[in-house]
Amino acid sequence: MKKIITYGSFDLFHEGHYKILQRAKALGDYLIVGVTTEHFDRKRGKLNLVDPIMTRIENVRATGFADEIIVEDHDGQKIEDIQRYGIDTFVLGSDWVGKFDYLKKYCNVVYLDRTPNISSTIIRNDRLKLIKLGIVGTGRIAKRFFAETKFVSGIEAVAAYNPETVSLENFSSAFSVMSFSNEYEDFLDVVDAVYVASPNETHAEYVRKALVAGKHVLCEKPMTFTYDEAVELYSLAKNNKVVLMEGIRAAYLPGFQQLLSVAKDGTIGEICDVEACFTRLGDPQSREMSDARYGGAFMEYGSYTMLPIFKLFGTEYEDVQIDSILGETGIDRFTKVQFRYKNGLATSKTGAGVKSEGQLVISGTKGYILAKSPWWLIREFDVRYEQADRIDHYEAGFIGVDGFRYEIAEFLGKINGTSGIDYKLTAEESVAMAKVVEKFMNIRRKQQGF
Ligand code: CTP
Repeated sequence: MKKIITYGSFDLFHEGHYKILQRAKALGDYLIVGVTTEHFDRKRGKLNLVDPIMTRIENVRATGFADEIIVEDHDGQKIEDIQRYGIDTFVLGSDWVGKFDYLKKYCNVVYLDRTPNISSTIIRNDRLKLIKLGIVGTGRIAKRFFAETKFVSGIEAVAAYNPETVSLENFSSAFSVMSFSNEYEDFLDVVDAVYVASPNETHAEYVRKALVAGKHVLCEKPMTFTYDEAVELYSLAKNNKVVLMEGIRAAYLPGFQQLLSVAKDGTIGEICDVEACFTRLGDPQSREMSDARYGGAFMEYGSYTMLPIFKLFGTEYEDVQIDSILGETGIDRFTKVQFRYKNGLATSKTGAGVKSEGQLVISGTKGYILAKSPWWLIREFDVRYEQADRIDHYEAGFIGVDGFRYEIAEFLGKINGTSGIDYKLTAEESVAMAKVVEKFMNIRRKQQGF
């Protein structure tokens, strides 16, 4: 019996998929089709799958060509499958010519011509309206963000807004987008969604106006400085039926999702303590190092350190203690926030102009998780136990720069209704962060003597 194997995502099943399965089957007697998981596809850079895996499998099954369907979920699996199933011929479309020649050691490798003018990407783009994105603020972070929008299909940055014209002109000529420096409403008119990356103290107002105008919003952290305002903005988004998402990038990374799952699945027993640290020795002239009202360690990095705490222990803490050491400019140079939960403790440590080990440690009754710096751009972590030589190592890399791609894909998925319910960063968690920020600001103001 001649066995054939082929692989694919088979998203939004189309004629090209049907024909390749038909031709693959005709090459032998028994066809095995590997359908990729969402997780594996994300790792490979496909961030916009529409159909869930069960639908994709059912669509392959419905063709009647597959004798067996398997799931592909990890690198190196093709070699394993070929050996395990005794495959004679590996088949893939001509878009992959050469890419799988390394499998020739194990079986025949055949690339079949692709069906012209059709692909999942084309259907996705036709089916879902292209989202026109506007960027508010044109500084360092906006530039890095803009470059990454190019890698997520279905969204295009078309306009930038900044009342400061020099920065705006530099940005819009470098990236060929429309520029707006006066009327924010005119800018909102030409977009469907906005990414707010302006100075911290201007976030909330830009967000509010965009939501009122019916635009979807992705806002850099911290979105607001008060609990009331955070509640107001999320309910405004809900009433206007638009997406509001706080841009805490770590929340959307595949490795962070995996870390949370491992932490919660009992591997380390009951979680007793979470300690998250983020410090940076930045440029003393920078806004975060010099702006005594809206800069400083906790404002800049506290959203990151609070994230694993709220994800693991929830937002209902019994008590929170905040203490800071101020620098010469009046900013908090180092801030320690301690949360007390019914059955757990948590600490957030942030530094701007102080350096420490930027790690995330989750301690449990059977072991602990250690994610080393930069855990907010997580690629790997360890689970360690009483026996020092027993270490389970997890790797979950990501593609692109600084995790923006996953955040943008999540934002787009929410706009299109394809990314499921909110769980990576909920409105409730974002609101709880604003509550801590509010308390922090009150304490810091007193300390500063304002
Ligand atoms: N395929 C094909 N003809 C097409 C599209 C895809 O023969 N017009 C083949 C691919 O070469 C591959 C298989 O179908 O062997 C599954 O491809 P998949 O990546 O799932 O589909 P695409 O439409 O190429 O998806 P995307 O646009 O997301 O890359």
